Amino acid sequence: MLYPWKDEYSVGVSRFDSHHKKLFDIANQLHEMMKSGKGAEVIEPVLRDLIDYTKYHLAEEEKALERIGYSGIAAHKRAHVIFTDQLNEGLVEIEKGRAMFVVVKISKAVIDWLIDHIFVVDHKYTAEMNAAGIH
Ligand SMILES: [Fe+2]
Ligand SMILES: [Fe+2]
Repeated sequence: MLYPWKDEYSVGVSRFDSHHKKLFDIANQLHEMMKSGKGAEVIEPVLRDLIDYTKYHLAEEEKALERIGYSGIAAHKRAHVIFTDQLNEGLVEIEKGRAMFVVVKISKAVIDWLIDHIFVVDHKYTAEMNAAGIH
């Protein structure tokens, strides 16, 4: 596994930890498929899963942060928007039939972004979420 999950990635909210873990799982799956030389027809649906699940996760996280009146909501949402734009650009490339071209870029970008985002941005909500009774 290229990108193993580490306990230090935990954001102290079990639901979002499991979302993050699932994102790591899909990204690892993509990496394995590329390594074993699978074709675009096999890789493309997994890439779409990664993009769809990422969007779902970002939306769910924002809803929870809104619900608790999180103080850093604006900056957090901005960080999500920047990433969603990248994912949408990836989708446009897939539509053009360039799935193999974007798969490397996107799976790596998602993991790099996730690790960085979880450490720097998501970790900031832990205290307020936990204080609101969400663990
Ligand atoms: Fe986030
Ligand atoms: Fe997150």
